[in-house]
Amino acid sequence: MPGVQLARGTLWHVAREQADGEARVDGDDMTDEHGEAGVQTQGRARDVPPGPDGKDRTAWKRARPSDYGLEGEDAKFATVALSGRVKWRVTEVEFRTRAHSNPLNDGLFDVPVCPSAFRGDQHVQWLDVGCGYGGLALELACQFPAKHIMGMEIRDRVAEYCVLQRDTLRERYPGEYQNVSFVRTNAQKYLQNFVRKGQLEKIMFCYPDPHFKRRKWRQRVVTTQLLAIYAYVLQEGGRLYFVTDVKDLWDWMTGHTDNHPLFCRVEDVKDDPVASYVRNHTNEAARVEKSERPKFFACYERLPTPPL
Ligand SMILES: C[S@@+](CC[C@H](N)C(=O)[O-])C[C@H]1O[C@@H](n2cnc3c(N)ncnc32)[C@H](O)[C@@H]1O
Repeated sequence: MPGVQLARGTLWHVAREQADGEARVDGDDMTDEHGEAGVQTQGRARDVPPGPDGKDRTAWKRARPSDYGLEGEDAKFATVALSGRVKWRVTEVEFRTRAHSNPLNDGLFDVPVCPSAFRGDQHVQWLDVGCGYGGLALELACQFPAKHIMGMEIRDRVAEYCVLQRDTLRERYPGEYQNVSFVRTNAQKYLQNFVRKGQLEKIMFCYPDPHFKRRKWRQRVVTTQLLAIYAYVLQEGGRLYFVTDVKDLWDWMTGHTDNHPLFCRVEDVKDDPVASYVRNHTNEAARVEKSERPKFFACYERLPTPPL
């Protein structure tokens, strides 16, 4: 039976004792995907209360080879293999890959033939499309343990990173993070292979790729055709969330969705606890805040399907 496989592949776990022997716990200077200098921060590093054991729950801040079962020679190898790329924790940097994947290409994706053939979590209620490094999905899983959350990501190494972080958290907090899963796929082509009609309560699009050039607009994650698919997999009353720091893209997404007969804009999201997570708790949101760029947010509700 076809199914989704997230190959763990080679994971680069980096560690080296610093001269002073102290762990580095804050961001690492780096250049981001858009070529801008920034500080690598984690989406859920703030506002997370300590776990029941009193320990900081931002597990990846203190990741070491031993956290991943690498001991003795293996741990040394992990250190040596990354000669020069010294980090105290597993960071997104080690999982950097090409900045973009063309969603219109026919990539080699192993997709289930239909949602019932999906070997992952078939009870998903909330979906983060283009979840990147998974900060939002992990945060939501922690804050809303009764909900099943899935992150979809097109880049294989980035999806691997998400699974690694999720597995680390599962090991550290036994019984938790069972409600979050990640799949590597092209959501713009295969969403309906993973989720059934009317299955989802929420779909989130956080800081999607802007595809600035006119000839690339058709690659955007919101188009009239794609909205029909989002309406299909969302239950009536379900919600779509958009957040971006690119005003042109926001105009494009809201323009298309405002004109769609199955969605209506929700102006007041004060009573929706998820809205602020979508706005503020993704990995990309941390970068946007750091560079003091504006955030543009919109929320839409799925209207009842009119009788034929
Ligand atoms: C700018 S990043 C934002 C990541 C994350 N949502 C955040 O806010 O931190 C956009 C992400 O969407 C992913 N992506 C783009 N097109 C996609 C598609 N068709 N299916 C799944 N993921 C996609 C990209 O690989 C990238 O990781």
